Amino acid sequence: MHTGPSEAVEHPWQGVRAGAFEGAADTYAIHDEMRRQAPVWQAPWGDIYVTGYDLVSNSLADRKLSHVPPGSEAAQPDSAIRDWLIYQEGSTHAALRQAVQQPFVGKGMAALRPVVAQAVDEFVGDAGLSGAVDVVAAFTRAVPERIIGRLLGVPDEDMPLIRAWSVAIRTMLDTGFDDAFGDGANPADEMSGYFVEHLRHLLAAGDLPPLLAGLPSLADALGLTAAGRNIAFLAFAGHETTVHLIGNMLFHLAHRPDQWTALRADRRLAANAVAETLRLESPVQKICRWPLEPVVLGGREIGKDRLVVLLVGAANRDPAQFADASRFDLGRAGRQNLAFGRGAHVCIGRALAEMEGHAVLEAALARWKIIEPVGWQWMDNSSIRGLDALTLRLTA
Ligand code: HEM
Repeated sequence: MHTGPSEAVEHPWQGVRAGAFEGAADTYAIHDEMRRQAPVWQAPWGDIYVTGYDLVSNSLADRKLSHVPPGSEAAQPDSAIRDWLIYQEGSTHAALRQAVQQPFVGKGMAALRPVVAQAVDEFVGDAGLSGAVDVVAAFTRAVPERIIGRLLGVPDEDMPLIRAWSVAIRTMLDTGFDDAFGDGANPADEMSGYFVEHLRHLLAAGDLPPLLAGLPSLADALGLTAAGRNIAFLAFAGHETTVHLIGNMLFHLAHRPDQWTALRADRRLAANAVAETLRLESPVQKICRWPLEPVVLGGREIGKDRLVVLLVGAANRDPAQFADASRFDLGRAGRQNLAFGRGAHVCIGRALAEMEGHAVLEAALARWKIIEPVGWQWMDNSSIRGLDALTLRLTA
């Protein structure tokens, strides 16, 4: 999810680079230029950026492009992040993924639904929510946090810790990726330490929360340290993106009263609202890969180990793929967006994230006739797209 700045190199497109990111306003304008002029672009600082839908889609599923940063094992064999599912390959990845994804498939999802409903009711059902409200502070962050906390059995009073670590990890993966895989302690190590203790406690108590029903075999297979590290990753990945799906969706609906009215008239459009937000304002904007051998991408040869940044946010606005691509349109049908990735590492929490987005939207539609934008602040992050604040005028 990053490009690591090492030295300053001025370029009109440097805003795509972590560290040089200058706010959300011009990101998509840069993506549009890149897609038109150089859909596979080698930046002066060496990294490759890919913007076109087909190129990004094919690259996501290309096994010659690795998830594992080259040299990271030798650099820091003990970094917690190195054990994360998302940075594994081949059979190690397949076995770990199989163990972690169990609760998200088939009947497992039914156990998650009441937890989602309760969290939405708790925060969006709050009778005080009317007039000008910062919905990020009121509920878009709190709902996914509460859900992942309950699903992993984290006590409510520990959630501020999880929030602080998640925000720090989000920043580190954007601007300090080399540090994340480097020598020093980082927030992922701290969060993993917490989860190792948490898992130890759960195993002793024998009362396992919904996402950890398979904990005994996971801990047997991996050992408690690697299990704790992966559950810390699940806690982070399991809410830091969904928070932004919900905020970004309300942002667009507040700016499009015609679409809000259409939704109120026909609730079956709610699923389209979730999908259209994921396309137009993808919470994960960047996915990183490293070629295991020289590869040709869009006619350009790319050397082994070169960082390739797949700009999912740009692919999802490719006009060759999506007509009138920068328009939020509930009537859009057709090809899938790439917001959850593709291939062996495609998101395992997709159904849960969509369930959360849908549940919050249903609750908002039931409560407010009108939602109007008052003010907002995009996050300073080039990899994760979302709002630090979103004040809406809510009218019942
Ligand atoms: C709107 C919300 C979400 C978005 C946009 C999102 C996006 C993504 C993307 C793009 C990837 C693939 C990254 C890559 O190929 O390198 C991914 C992987 C992953 N996601 Fe999500 N995600 C969301 C919600 C969730 C939730 C709710 C969970 C779990 C509770 C979750 C757990 C994971 C895990 C464990 C992986 C790694 C899978 C692997 O490496 O095999 N995600 N997600």
